[in-house]
Amino acid sequence: MSHVNSGVDFKITGIEILETIIQTKNLIKDYHTGDITVRALKGINLEIHKGEFVAIMGASGSGKSTLMNILGCLDVPSGGDYILDKVQVNKLSKKELADIRNQKIGFVFQGYNLLSRTSALENVEMPLLYNRSVHYPDPAKLAISALTKVGLGDRVHHHPNQLSGGQQQRVAIARSLINNPAVILADEPTGNLDTKTSIEVLSIFQELNDQGITVLLITHEHDIAYYAKRIIEVRDGLILKDYQVEKRKNAVEDLSNFKVEEIEII
Ligand SMILES: Nc1ncnc2c1ncn2[C@@H]1O[C@H](COP(=O)(O)OP(=O)(O)OP(=O)(O)O)[C@@H](O)[C@H]1O
Ligand SMILES: [Mg+2]
Repeated sequence: MSHVNSGVDFKITGIEILETIIQTKNLIKDYHTGDITVRALKGINLEIHKGEFVAIMGASGSGKSTLMNILGCLDVPSGGDYILDKVQVNKLSKKELADIRNQKIGFVFQGYNLLSRTSALENVEMPLLYNRSVHYPDPAKLAISALTKVGLGDRVHHHPNQLSGGQQQRVAIARSLINNPAVILADEPTGNLDTKTSIEVLSIFQELNDQGITVLLITHEHDIAYYAKRIIEVRDGLILKDYQVEKRKNAVEDLSNFKVEEIEII
């Protein structure tokens, strides 16, 4: 595993020192199917610092999931460099890639990806049991603490089919937190949820980010992206725009407005 110092220097802006968590240089991804090659990423240059909350936005087929799979060490690029938390990952073996993924990344997917015959507690514990580099003496205690963090301390023994969609996604978020990852990657985490439940899930991401966790959220909806602090727009495998959100939405505030509307209807 090669440790790289160049490109992960500390950036000084005012009094803040920002540590680079993710850096890509000219990232390229080609998919080969039969005689056809699709270039899904055409040279992505990206820098994300610790504590950021970034939404990656783009239309269907623009390359969002391809990018997330590479950033999440689920797949390797065809070209370019990727440095994750000071480690150059594009040169790693499959085994090393799996280890770094376990240690540094928390995943949240649109379809929750929970094991159905397993309790919330066991689902959340799972990444700890796969972590070969660390032995955890009491995984259940850590899992209960993560579930409590997402407001599910009273649902630890429920199975996924005994939980609502929003609750299942919260179990998935608890699972993503359990390894204390450098970054949480969420691919369309609200894609299966109604508006109010989506905002509830976003309130958890905002709260975790307020606590210092770096969040990368993929979405094709503007409404969702505006809960992030920064938006990166992707089109046809390239970054089109990259900007800070000026009027950021606050999920807790939006939820309280929802409650007022509901009372008015009654
Ligand atoms: N495994 C694959 N094999 C071949 N082509 C692929 C593969 N995965 C994605 N592609 C192609 O790469 C491009 C980017 O796909 P990707 O899944 O990254 O898009 P996306 O932005 O996540 O879209 P969506 O919003 O629909 O999820 C598309 O043209 C797609 O057809
Ligand atoms: Mg996708």
